[in-house]
Order: sequence, then C-alpha cells, then structure tokens
Amino acid sequence: MYEEYYSFKELPFNVTPDPRFLYRSRSHRDALAYITYGIFQKKGFIAVTGEVGVGKTTVVNAFIDLFQPSLETAFVFTTKFPFDQLLYLVCNDFGLEVEGMNKVQMLMALNKFLISQYEKNRNTVLIIDEAQNLSPEVLEELRMLSNLETRDRKLIQIMLVGQPELEKMLNLNEMRQLRQRIPGICHIPILNRDDVEKYIQFRIKVASVNGQGPAFTSEAINEVFHYSGGTPRLINILCDRVLLLGYVMNVHNFDSRIVREGIRELESKEIT
Ligand SMILES: Nc1ncnc2c1ncn2[C@@H]1O[C@H](COP(=O)(O)OP(=O)(O)OP(=O)(O)O)[C@@H](O)[C@H]1O
Ligand SMILES: [Mg+2]
Repeated sequence: MYEEYYSFKELPFNVTPDPRFLYRSRSHRDALAYITYGIFQKKGFIAVTGEVGVGKTTVVNAFIDLFQPSLETAFVFTTKFPFDQLLYLVCNDFGLEVEGMNKVQMLMALNKFLISQYEKNRNTVLIIDEAQNLSPEVLEELRMLSNLETRDRKLIQIMLVGQPELEKMLNLNEMRQLRQRIPGICHIPILNRDDVEKYIQFRIKVASVNGQGPAFTSEAINEVFHYSGGTPRLINILCDRVLLLGYVMNVHNFDSRIVREGIRELESKEIT
C-alpha cells in the first residue's frame, strides 16, 4: 500500500524467502559456498542449520536459482512423516508417477529416475527443509537412500535444512554413521549490527525503482538491531511496520523514535 509513496516497485520487507532479496552477509555467502561445494563435489549429504528466520530457506532458494539448469531438485518440507510417505512426496516432486505403489516399487522407480538423470549428467538433489522434524528412523532410511550410487559417484545428493535441533540430533551417538558422511554442518548465525544496516539498505535498494529509497539513522538501526537480535525475519516485520508509519506520518527518513513507535505497535499487537 505504501509502495508508491516511497517509489518502490515492490514491498522491500516481505517475509517470503525470495532469493532476489538475498543480502550476502559473510555467513550467507559461506552457506551458499558450502551448499555449492557439497552438491557439486557429490558429498552425498550436507546439512544447513540456523535459528528460526535466519535465512536458511532463502539461501537454498538462491542456490537453486543460481544453478537451476544443471539441477533436478525435489523440495519437501517435513512434518513427522514416516519414511514411505516422505518417499512418496519425494517421488512426486521429481515428477514420478508412483500413485498406489508400495515402498519397494517407489524405490525402484526412484532408482531408475536417478540413473536416467546421471546419464544426462544432471545433478539430482533432494532438499529436506524443516529437517529437525525427521525421526532417527527416517534419517537412517535417508542414509540408505544416499547409498544409491554408481561405481564413481552418488546418484542423489541430500540436503538437510533445519533449526539447531537438527544438529543436536545428528550428533547423537546413534546417528554417527550418518554424521560421518556430512562434511561439517553449516550453521548460519544471526546478523551483527553492521550487517543489519547493510541488509536494510540492500533490501530497500532492490525494491526501489531508482535504486534509492528511505533512510534509517544510525540510532534507528541500533533500535532495529536491538529489537530483532539480528534475525532477518524480525527485521523485515519491524521495517515493514516503520515504513507504514512513515507513510501515515508523511516522513521519508526514519529516526529511533519512529522505530520505537513501530516496536510499540508490534508489541501491543502481540498482547491483544
Ligand atoms: N541474507 C538475507 N538477505 C535477504 N533477506 C533475508 C536474508 N536472510 C533472511 N532473509 C529474509 O528473512 C525472512 C526469513 O527467511 P527464511 O524464511 O529463509 O528463514 P528460515 O531460516 O528458513 O526460517 P524458518 O526456520 O522459520 O524456516 C525472509 O523474508 C527472507 O527473505
Ligand atoms: Mg525455512
């Protein structure tokens, strides 16, 4: 609603994991590099963790966007599914017709598909988001799935993406066989104060028509940092509120007072 007022072509602080808005902080860049390395070096398994709202799904989407032509991806979000249901979703997302098939038949269909992709020299990647919800039994089955291989390489790369509980689970003694196959776990930390500033400027720039847009004073950024703790999703929610307030109050540049007002509004909304 305020896009026109600030000359935005789109909302700068949406909460969708849109890779066009990816601000490449050191840690987001490292995560992208880790994923790229793991997938193209055919490590078999990789894992990305981070707190809620830190940008895990956005980084994964950025990776897919960058390498789409050479990838065949299936993207599944897990709740606590048993393995055969997960397998069904995976096959479906790869475009396989597996309606009515049992587990063995689905595995056979998947294997055939993986070999055909291998022959076309395409990288098949299974991305499991919200992987902290996977049970140890399902993780074990996934390990078996990653055993599908030719003599010289893995046929499928599996990327586990989830909250820090995922790392805890992978570090359990019973998970050591799987854990040994993962080349380090990539953890995305929250943003520091400087990155929060650059992050805000970057998103405003991407959304604006002429590459310019409203500015935040240094104190205003401090307030955003303090409120959000450096979590991108919380930054977005607050900045969206501040932009709305600015529109209503007819100001284009934001000081700490208007940010505090935004925080008050969000907090009173949480209470009601
Ligand atoms: N580096 C970044 N650059 C730009 N936007 C980002 C960045 N990191 C996160 N965001 C934004 O923050 C919001 C939350 O990101 P995302 O959904 O990727 O987080 P997540 O870690 O997957 O969260 P969850 O644990 O809830 O799944 C999105 O709007 C996303 O665009
Ligand atoms: Mg996510």
